[in-house]
Amino acid sequence: MVKKLFIETLGCAMNVRDSEHMIAELNREEPYLLTKDAKEADLILINTCSVREKPVNKLFSEIGQFVKHKKKSAKIGVCGCTASHLGEEIFKRAPEVNFVLGARNVSKIREAISKEKFLDVNINYDESAYAFGEFRQNPHKAYINISIGCDKKCAFCIVPHTRGEEISVPHELILSEAERAAKSGAKEIFLLGQNVNNYGRRLSNGKKGEFNFSQLLTQISKINEVKRIRFTSPHPLHMDDEFLEVFASNPKICKSMHMPLQSGSTAILKTMRRGYTKEWFLERAQKLRRMSPDVAISTDIIVAFPGESEKDFADTMEIMEEVRFEQIFSFKYSARPLTTAAQMTNMVDDKTASARLKILQDKHAAILDEMTPNYKDKIFEVYFEELRENGMIAGRTSQNFTVCAEESEKLLGEIKNVKITRPQRLILYGQVV
Ligand code: SAH
Ligand code: F3S
Repeated sequence: MVKKLFIETLGCAMNVRDSEHMIAELNREEPYLLTKDAKEADLILINTCSVREKPVNKLFSEIGQFVKHKKKSAKIGVCGCTASHLGEEIFKRAPEVNFVLGARNVSKIREAISKEKFLDVNINYDESAYAFGEFRQNPHKAYINISIGCDKKCAFCIVPHTRGEEISVPHELILSEAERAAKSGAKEIFLLGQNVNNYGRRLSNGKKGEFNFSQLLTQISKINEVKRIRFTSPHPLHMDDEFLEVFASNPKICKSMHMPLQSGSTAILKTMRRGYTKEWFLERAQKLRRMSPDVAISTDIIVAFPGESEKDFADTMEIMEEVRFEQIFSFKYSARPLTTAAQMTNMVDDKTASARLKILQDKHAAILDEMTPNYKDKIFEVYFEELRENGMIAGRTSQNFTVCAEESEKLLGEIKNVKITRPQRLILYGQVV
């Protein structure tokens, strides 16, 4: 009987890749069949996120549900960032859990399942040069980690405490992984790291890498079978001219840039320890739009960081209107343990926080409503990657817009020109031309 694996992945793209890594490692020993039904699983993995408080609370109620309905012999493992930060406490609050594996310890999954109880949440453990097994959930798109950890220590962010110090993956490993993935059909390479454009600053041996991020992008673009390159997340501080130049001029680099703003107020950015000012951000974004006129810019914004005044919030709104982001991910500030911001007492009350979030999101929706009709009759190159439940096929434009079309599923894995017939805020509908 083939064993069945239920795996739930929360949070960012790095977690998605960590889940793939765990599946690959498990498969080295014996094949596991993925199941969407936890009740029939022999192994239940929850790959957690701890960036905001909500998912952490959900974790324990979820474990309770799994314990109630799972097969008697099934093991439960909690992995990822919440595992790193809560560690032993997970066993105390949920004694049925068999193992706890931190975000930097996922390569130990086979050891973990072989024991009755197992805990490893060491954030200094270095998996940067570990050659994980091969597994990809999407054959058309290859996620590749180019660095682990983060050295930035933004005041609000728990990630450096769950993923440890920033270490770049050796370029030889990245290039061979990209080549293998592309040759097996993944036309798109998606590079992952907390600060991708700081790539090469420090390898596991303490030395600087041979390539910086711009050079790494150029190297990957030389692989014939690679047609598209994406990456997340770059940091606005490291968006130097060399980087913008390579981004704008290399046709294989998708014209979608994530510029996590967090706040438009220079004073708040300073307390957040972001390392740039309102003016720097605006200048970089404007230069990017000039150099790469078809770019789509996405961003992350936190409202109601401690001490955020009406004036600070107005600065954030001003940047929104100036840059006119194609996409925003916006959050109310959530105090996280271990972070320096958690010590701050000048909290913005929740009512104001909710009101600001709504103003921001409404404004963004209005901006999108102005932008979206302009896509009608435009022709985009779309890489079809996914069959939708309604029978349509979906793909992405270089700008990372989702396009759906009523076309044959034979087009999955193909890049085609699509004329937009019905543009909507989140999905552009069109026809292959
Ligand atoms: N560099 C990382 C950032 C990880 S966290 C990356 O690769 O995306 C993702 C986003 O969550 C951040 O950009 C920030 O906007 C948001 N975030 C992080 N900590 C937060 C907190 N304490 N409260 C609210 N939002 C937070
Ligand atoms: Fe977090 Fe800032 Fe690093 S948001 S992941 S500490 S760049």
